Amino acid sequence: MKHFLLLASALVVSSPALALDGAKLYQEKTCWSCHGKDAKKTLTPAYPKLAGQNAAYAEQQMKDIKSGARSNGQSAAMKGVMGLVNDEEIKAIAQYLSTLK
Ligand code: HEC
Repeated sequence: MKHFLLLASALVVSSPALALDGAKLYQEKTCWSCHGKDAKKTLTPAYPKLAGQNAAYAEQQMKDIKSGARSNGQSAAMKGVMGLVNDEEIKAIAQYLSTLK
């Protein structure tokens, strides 16, 4: 019993370390190559600026581009990259983008 309690508390303490780092993912998944290192200066003016976007909005746009539901404009340019991120990672990146100015 004592051991179980120790294990349970260790899990609670360590769980925040499992949270995904949106800033890191944004760099690792090459998002910056089109949207800019700091999500402000894009590769071409036609690409959307992501810094400060509403998290729920950005998350939905990424999912729609991934699924093909959003296929307007230049979304095809981004679709291939979306294979690199799962729903949890998309959420973490959207959260990160919303914290930028
Ligand atoms: C090859 C270039 C390219 C890459 C790489 C790329 N994107 Fe995009 N992204 C675009 C383009 C172009 C659009 C606009 C699509 C359109 O015209 O509908 C877009 C749109 C978006 C939007 C919606 C913005 C809005 O205002 O509606 C988000 C959010 C986004 N990208 C996030 C990301 C993230 C996160 C990554 C990395 C996982 C990424 N993008 C990688 C080109 C890219």
